[in-house]
Amino acid sequence: MDSHLFSKTKIESLDLANRIVIPPMCQYSAANGQATEWHLMHYGTLSLSGAGLLIVEATAVAPEGRISYADLGIWDDKSAFALSKVVDFIRLHSPIPLALQISHAGRKASTDLSWKSNNFIHPSAPNGWQTIAPSAIPLSTGGTIPRELTIPEIDQIVLQFVRAAQRAVAIGFNAIELHGAHGYLLSQFLSPITNKRKDAYGGSLENRMRLVLEVFDAVKAGIPSDVPVGIRISATDWIEGGWDLAQSIELAKLLEKRGCAYIHVSGGGVDGGLQRMPELRPGYQLPYAEAIKKAVRIPVIGVGLITVPQEAEDAISSGKADLIAVGRGFLYDPRWAWHAAAALGAKVAVPPQYSRCEPHTLKGLFCNE
Ligand SMILES: Cc1cc2nc3c(=O)[nH]c(=O)nc-3n(C[C@H](O)[C@H](O)[C@H](O)COP(=O)(O)O)c2cc1C
Repeated sequence: MDSHLFSKTKIESLDLANRIVIPPMCQYSAANGQATEWHLMHYGTLSLSGAGLLIVEATAVAPEGRISYADLGIWDDKSAFALSKVVDFIRLHSPIPLALQISHAGRKASTDLSWKSNNFIHPSAPNGWQTIAPSAIPLSTGGTIPRELTIPEIDQIVLQFVRAAQRAVAIGFNAIELHGAHGYLLSQFLSPITNKRKDAYGGSLENRMRLVLEVFDAVKAGIPSDVPVGIRISATDWIEGGWDLAQSIELAKLLEKRGCAYIHVSGGGVDGGLQRMPELRPGYQLPYAEAIKKAVRIPVIGVGLITVPQEAEDAISSGKADLIAVGRGFLYDPRWAWHAAAALGAKVAVPPQYSRCEPHTLKGLFCNE
């Protein structure tokens, strides 16, 4: 029987060769927000992976919206130009659809590089800055106390997302993903744990969703209508009294009505000290994707500890998700999709330069790009 994972699909008008997604993964390798040779090498490799969609890492809409000082940015012409070189480089040899995740880290900004310490850098120390957030609440694990955003600053952030999306489209990205997950700024507004505002952006569910919906509407209206705009959310904070699946379903339905292209369903991250994660087993977040998929008709991407091709295949065939993102699996094995095609009896496109590596026992595995 034909593989479900390798069946063609579409995100709005964007054609995907299969349902394998490489999710955004920060590389902490930029210089002043600008992409470097590392990004050429890393994304060049992943662009030959045969995946159906490559989502480029969280890219900050403003300098203070970076997680660390080495995050990618797309807040000005210089950072956009540096990233355009990565897109152009990929396009020399790969037609893979490319999305850019645009992001603001809010209170989780101003950290050291993840492989060094993961610690916050004090605003007065080199490479540190004052963080901002819906409310002046630090993470329970400590770190900088963020400054509460004013309404004019919130309006400014909406504009920053729009400008970032416009730049991304101008340099050749095929889709935009809003980073509404993992306790970064948009997620901080959604969560009652981090959002204690008394104005129109806090309190009720409607108010906490306001910024995400404003950003979505403004980005959608600010770029050509044929460029899909999707969103990544944390389906739950895994904290009592926090953001949860029922609220995620409400948000997904509203976003669908407004023209959202897809919902990418992750989890957690609002406060590592308070969250109580379920047992980490393959596909542990898929039940959330499945519940959201039941509530909307737009594509849902499932993610989380999926490394075995059959697990991805089963998730699609059993209707838990429309697409499956494999993150660390692709860092470990950039040819994950080739090996998945081999395991599932499917075909995958490879560059002609590599066609001679097709195993004798698997003739017909490769189809030309
Ligand atoms: C090195 C690394 C960087 C990541 N950076 C991002 C990011 O920029 N944006 C995001 O939404 N998630 C990020 N994530 C989370 C992944 O996209 C993915 O959701 C997570 O790794 C779980 O999927 P996996 O088990 O297939 O790796 C990152 C994960 C890793 C390992």
